[in-house]
Amino acid sequence: MNLSDNFPIEFYDALVIGAGGAGMRCALKLTEQGHKVAMVSKVFPTRSHTVAAQGGINAALGNVTPDQWQWHMYDTIKGSDYLGDQDAIEFMCQEAAEIVRELEHFGVPFSRLESGKIYQRAFGGQSQNYGEEQAHRTCAAADRTGHAILHSLYQQNIRLGTTIYDEYYALDLLKTINGEIGGVLVMNIHDGAYKILQSSHTLLATGGAGQVFRNNTNASINTGDGLGMVLRAGLPLQDMEFWQFHPTGVAGKGMLISEAVRGEGGKLRNALGEAFMEKYAPHVKDLASRDVVSRAIAIEVKEGRGCGANKDYVLLDISHIPEEVITERLPGIRDISQTFLGIDPIKEPIPVFPTCHYMMGGIPTNIQGQVVSPDDLGEQKVVKGLYAIGECACVSVHGANRLGGNSLLDIIVFGRKAALTISEALHSHKPNRSNTDLNLQSIRQRLQRWQKRSETSAETSAQIDSVIQIKKSLQQIMDRGCGVFRDHQTMQQAFNDLQGIQLRLDNVCLTDFNDVFNLERLAGLELENLVAIAFATVTSALARTESRGAHSRVDFAERDDQAWLKHTLYFQEAHRLVYKAVNLHPKHHVAFEPKPRVY
Ligand code: FUM
Repeated sequence: MNLSDNFPIEFYDALVIGAGGAGMRCALKLTEQGHKVAMVSKVFPTRSHTVAAQGGINAALGNVTPDQWQWHMYDTIKGSDYLGDQDAIEFMCQEAAEIVRELEHFGVPFSRLESGKIYQRAFGGQSQNYGEEQAHRTCAAADRTGHAILHSLYQQNIRLGTTIYDEYYALDLLKTINGEIGGVLVMNIHDGAYKILQSSHTLLATGGAGQVFRNNTNASINTGDGLGMVLRAGLPLQDMEFWQFHPTGVAGKGMLISEAVRGEGGKLRNALGEAFMEKYAPHVKDLASRDVVSRAIAIEVKEGRGCGANKDYVLLDISHIPEEVITERLPGIRDISQTFLGIDPIKEPIPVFPTCHYMMGGIPTNIQGQVVSPDDLGEQKVVKGLYAIGECACVSVHGANRLGGNSLLDIIVFGRKAALTISEALHSHKPNRSNTDLNLQSIRQRLQRWQKRSETSAETSAQIDSVIQIKKSLQQIMDRGCGVFRDHQTMQQAFNDLQGIQLRLDNVCLTDFNDVFNLERLAGLELENLVAIAFATVTSALARTESRGAHSRVDFAERDDQAWLKHTLYFQEAHRLVYKAVNLHPKHHVAFEPKPRVY
């Protein structure tokens, strides 16, 4: 279809963009409530990145150790380095037990204890009684929990008949004449045809953007498409300086070796054979929160106690764990080690190094899943017609550092909650189709540029700068400038280098001129989102002159609650930053005041 043609339009009560755990849970609830829902996915839904989640989902069930949602709430707030919003964290932790029972009824094959109850393992940052003994709070299906959840939710959606647009790419949000969000423009990846999906309720569940770094645990599809759409719509992103580096990625490659390995008793060792976490977290050792463990590994390597010829990794040792525990509880980890490293972890330790895993920031929302943005007076206002959940959103339950096992919980809790919000709105106001003057001009311009690039590239093919080369350069810049440790100089250099990347992207030429099935054009559109996200990250990180959670500055090593107990909001236009207060007002529990954070 030509860009000058009118795009065909389809109407839905609600649109769910993304078919990972968050989108699936939301779509399922909406379909169950009788609404006409379309779920859009750029891959076949069960290939969404939730499928790769390993260790489990947190809920204070108390099946292995005594537990309470209030302890879970405390651990999450402490883990967030006090940047998490306490009302949202309280809500999530209170909902957790019911959410897990619901998943069980959807068919998730959780591992079991002898008693028949759901198996729960220890994960980092979990405690009983507000910081005392280690808790076992993470409900697991071996080390393939995300796979089990995603497949069960997919089957439930199929059973109820949710409409799914497989392998459609969402390009941009559409606005009505009133400035409300009125749907999305999508492209069928197979034939390049565009289509407008129109709705008064558009929900983004597009996942993370770990592809902005070279070493990451993320799927190649994690390019922050929802975040790019939001920025282009003139809306902000929140807390983009906070990226989680998972301590145990396969060294040099990045794939995830689950925290479950340390939960089952695995130990990190340096080249001297020392179990070095004793130095950094004397009380909980290898089960400190992820930011703490990642920094410890980076320091061991920096100070020359790394392993291997280049002394650039540490070892994860599980040789003391009984073989039957490994085969029953960690089969996927053994498989990954054998496939990608050619080693059997029963006999040999696994080489690991921190790897980008998770984006704590994202599209700002309230607990109902509605996107919020400040008005001219700085007051937070709901953006009509737009919702966001899961990793692409920032509600904010993870603050400056997420605890392992809270991400699967976040997607399911807020997936369900957002569906209830939309459903209530649909029951009180019938969708209004008359208000449909959607503004397509800027989107046509964006797409036109990609078509023009294909045309001009024919003349300049001798010096083609490819989308792939630019993406590689981007990832190198972000690895160097915004990794586990940062400082002003490296981040300023990254910002300057990103301007060069933007220029290259503006002039890039496609080598593939096919207007129908063109993965290079798709990669280019994704790269636009990644570059926008990189700018948001570096700008927000440069401005925050303190260390908090995963944002660890060599030049500002302390947390500064006086100046920085606040959320960052980044707008793409002129790289503008504004700030908003952290919510310290839970509904039921007393607030947790910021304290020094020790493990
Ligand atoms: O280590 C892991 O299994 C990852 C879990 C998570 O990020 O929640």
